[in-house]
Amino acid sequence: MPPTLIKTADGSHSLFVAELDEHYHSIHGAIQESRHVFIQAGLKQIIKQDGASPVIANDKINILEIGLGTGLNALLTFIETDKSSVNINYTAIEAYPISIDLINQLNYIECLNAENYQSVFNTIHTCETGKPVMLSNNFTFSKIIRKLQDAVFETKFNLIYFDAFGPRVQPEMWREDVFAKLYAAVEPNGCLVTYCAKGEVKRTLKKVGFTVESLQGPPGKREMVRAVKN
Ligand SMILES: C[S@@+](CC[C@H](N)C(=O)[O-])C[C@H]1O[C@@H](n2cnc3c(N)ncnc32)[C@H](O)[C@@H]1O
Repeated sequence: MPPTLIKTADGSHSLFVAELDEHYHSIHGAIQESRHVFIQAGLKQIIKQDGASPVIANDKINILEIGLGTGLNALLTFIETDKSSVNINYTAIEAYPISIDLINQLNYIECLNAENYQSVFNTIHTCETGKPVMLSNNFTFSKIIRKLQDAVFETKFNLIYFDAFGPRVQPEMWREDVFAKLYAAVEPNGCLVTYCAKGEVKRTLKKVGFTVESLQGPPGKREMVRAVKN
């Protein structure tokens, strides 16, 4: 059964998967959560800012997203870095893409007041798998339709948005073998951010080599995790 559209507390849409009893985002606010976990705690830490000490000081940032889903994280990343001097190579892995019919109903462009970015959002979803597209002069996007477990990474990443379904419903995505593969795919000083701060997840991230920081979570969640490869 395809996921169904729901409205979260900040007015932005998310999807609900009945078989898993799981949402794609926090019901307290999809846009709010994505901004907090992936943009504020991930992207902004990686981008060199005003002489502040960044995790890396690099003008080319390779980002890997696990679970493209609605494309919200990719869209927010594009908007955040548009009109900046930062170059982004964004790769998103998705095993089960959602239908265009569902994508067309998502209200992110409207909620973000971002009509100028409608064509970028469309391209994120309609571009061919495995073929990088230039969404702008400084933003290259590649979509890989495949399971993370089957993916082979040729590049290393400065930042991973780990946005799989939670360990309750998809424990295989949070296992040591998966995190070890991701650790190997991260550049030194790069990091992985995720909304999940379960003790077991933090222990597994530490076991494969990450230094794990627990950060304040988005509204409705006490904590989130940033795991750094020192
Ligand atoms: C929590 S939702 C994603 C949220 C997404 N980042 C968004 O903003 O809509 C998890 C996503 O992971 C995808 N997924 C599930 N199993 C996967 C796997 N083995 N490899 C890659 N993606 C997977 C799901 O289809 C779903 O789109």
